[in-house]
Amino acid sequence: MTCDGLEAELRTVVGEDHVHIGDAIGERYRVDVSRKYQSRPVALVKPASTDEVAAIVRLASRRGLSITVVGGQSGTVGSAVPADGGIALSLERMSRVVEIDPLSMTMTVEAGCILQLAQEAAEVRGAFLPLDLGARGSATIGGVIGTNAGGNRVIRWGMMRDMVIGLEVVLADGTIVSSLTKMLKDNAGYNWKHLLIGSEGTLGIVTRAVLRLRPIPTSRQTALIATERFEDAIIAMRRLEVALSGKLSSFELMWSDFYAAMTEAQSSQRPAPMAPGHGFYALVEAMGGDAVADNEQFERVLMSLIEEGLVADAIIAQSDRERENIWAVREDMTPGLTPLRPFCAYDVSMGIADMPAFVAAARAGLAKVYPDASVLFYGHAGDGNLHAIVSRGSMDTDIQRGFDTAIFDAVRDVGGSIAAEHGIGVSRAPYLSWTRSPAEIDLMRTLKGALDPNRVLNPGKLLDAM
Ligand code: LAC
Ligand code: ZN
Repeated sequence: MTCDGLEAELRTVVGEDHVHIGDAIGERYRVDVSRKYQSRPVALVKPASTDEVAAIVRLASRRGLSITVVGGQSGTVGSAVPADGGIALSLERMSRVVEIDPLSMTMTVEAGCILQLAQEAAEVRGAFLPLDLGARGSATIGGVIGTNAGGNRVIRWGMMRDMVIGLEVVLADGTIVSSLTKMLKDNAGYNWKHLLIGSEGTLGIVTRAVLRLRPIPTSRQTALIATERFEDAIIAMRRLEVALSGKLSSFELMWSDFYAAMTEAQSSQRPAPMAPGHGFYALVEAMGGDAVADNEQFERVLMSLIEEGLVADAIIAQSDRERENIWAVREDMTPGLTPLRPFCAYDVSMGIADMPAFVAAARAGLAKVYPDASVLFYGHAGDGNLHAIVSRGSMDTDIQRGFDTAIFDAVRDVGGSIAAEHGIGVSRAPYLSWTRSPAEIDLMRTLKGALDPNRVLNPGKLLDAM
């Protein structure tokens, strides 16, 4: 590896102002939100076009340097933390919404665009980009494609994979593969874009995408419901799916202790929407096209769930402010999480019916190794996706391994996945075999070997970190 003249060469590609070397690289490009990893890339480069990205990849490849794309750094498992001595590539200058086509219902966007800005750009044109998650204000389109992000509306519109129609990527040898089509249907051979989506930057660099938009919903109903039993919450969700004629867009389940901890910590800012003490709470949201009829239908359905005894209590937001208050329980988590620091956050999935067994096994496993550990469960229950926050007031690598093992053993016992939406990155890599068979891991290695034989792209992550 040689770095002589690297700076000058990079400047020739992207211009004087868009290369930063060594200590001049800001911390935000060297960490992610977990702050568990801190790296020392040799250079930070900010290209302005796909051609410039390709030139940088060729240059890195020739010099034996690696490339990691840094985005909003809202990842939690180290996927986007650059390798020491590698190049950090920021696409912040490639953040344009290139086109919105309201007839085809597509949006063509550069990978550095922040998710929320893409959502807002669509909205201005009367269209709706359904992907939504807490990190919407920092996560980039390239990042949410790289992890196949999920979030709060997957039960209705799917994960990022379901919204990517066309994709442009730069491969490890600098080849640009561009298929920025607007076709929903295209069975002409292998669908390579799905291989790249969710590959955490290890198979190619996403530079642009065509996303599927939807007509913008004109009505929105939000409620907080409580049930005493897990099964009742899931039956209520199924009933809502049918009775709301497909309009149910979020069902965010919270275990009793999670709800109590979050609302208590937020109490100086806003009153809890409902008293704690029920077994389960769920944030329910529907989106439709006829406000009067939809509001009436929503209220009627929730009322009948209460009358049947499935739902113990329900509060329907009557204003945007009340809607925000309900969502805040789930999204304004900093006050509730701060006293739990340092903690480990998990992101697992399984069949919905297996969730109670998983939660019981995870609690028992944790209590066995650390009787003083606390664990809070919540998540996107309709997707079979749970988050867990585990803490005990201190943290080191042994404690972390103890927590990981308890959670992932419980996941393995129900045949679940250790990574529902945040990816494998660095921190989940030692456990990939908990969730993927040797044959699957071999197949992944074959694909990586074929597309990036010299391991230029995001080394030290996923398979590389095992
Ligand atoms: C959430 C993120 C952590 O659902 O995935 O809040
Ligand atoms: Zn989530």
